[in-house]
Amino acid sequence: MTILGIETSCDETAVSLLRVEDGVFTLEKNLVSSQIAIHAPHGGVVPEVAAREHVATISHLLKEALGDTRPDAIAVTGGPGLVTSLLVGVQAAKTLSAAWNIPLVRVNHIEAHLLANWLENPALSFPALGLVVSGGHTELVLMHEPGSYELIGRTRDDAVGECFDKAAKLLGLGYPGGPEIAKRTLEGNPKAIDLPRPMMHSNDFDFSFSGLKTAVLYLTPEQKQNIADVSASFQQAVIDVLISKTLKAASQYDIRSIVFGGGVMANKELRSQMKMMIESKLSHLTHQFPGNYACTDNAAMIAAAGYFHMQKGDTIDWKNLDADPNWEIEHVTY
Ligand code: KG4
Ligand code: ZN
Repeated sequence: MTILGIETSCDETAVSLLRVEDGVFTLEKNLVSSQIAIHAPHGGVVPEVAAREHVATISHLLKEALGDTRPDAIAVTGGPGLVTSLLVGVQAAKTLSAAWNIPLVRVNHIEAHLLANWLENPALSFPALGLVVSGGHTELVLMHEPGSYELIGRTRDDAVGECFDKAAKLLGLGYPGGPEIAKRTLEGNPKAIDLPRPMMHSNDFDFSFSGLKTAVLYLTPEQKQNIADVSASFQQAVIDVLISKTLKAASQYDIRSIVFGGGVMANKELRSQMKMMIESKLSHLTHQFPGNYACTDNAAMIAAAGYFHMQKGDTIDWKNLDADPNWEIEHVTY
């Protein structure tokens, strides 16, 4: 079966073609048109501009990805995200589904970030613990099976990626801040500045990152001058919190694997420290990171999630499909 994936929830227009035969995934096309350069001067995504860019780009990407291929099904992000951005992908998917009379699947963006790991390793077992860390989300999800999820922890204020972006802005670095800070850490000392690790020892699995950003704001001008040390110390504070909460949740719940997703998981230091800690403390669990191409927003993950929905017969009539900007992962049901 070949599934067309469409993703337009934020500032990446993405289209993919995923072939699945006997449970083996072959990613035939994976096109991403990023709007980062357009939004960078504003220091963040401007929703109206993002939607217009999706409109200008999506038909080109669809034509390029599809060529003469007529897929067997279409999977599209239904939410969460910016409503005006989501509507562009949703409308394209509805139109193609109606014209070709092929099944349509509505995919939750957070669910897709986590199911992207099955593209790397289709043998991963459930129940799994998933950590999603992106510009809009910081969530710990208990994945009983595809389509059955429990949100066990979430940020109470800023998302991790948002915190990277805001801290970078305070340091006069560019947007998006995550990769900018990560670059600066290479020359820095992660122990140079004592920054807070908010809620690291709280009795739940929630997160809070706004205090860390504020701590960067209140550093002395002398401290702020050493961008490498501030970056390394900041990054280490984030890593400590994410590792601590993930390992605590993994020990408390009866799971078989740990999977990761979202743009912040592109952070090499976060990956390597997380891997080391899981291998030393929870070596009975399988863990999987998405491929680098599948950390930031993409449509390969949407098509992969679409495949799981198709397996369970979870399709939607194109007339009933709508965007839901606040769609919680807990409310995904097959
Ligand atoms: O998943 P994503 O592409 O979009 C959302 O759904 O939000 O994540 C984007 C976020 C941005 O906040 C960006 O700063 C962060 O991921 N990011 C990183 C790195 N690469 C991207 N954060 C830390 N280290 C990185 N290497
Ligand atoms: Zn995302």
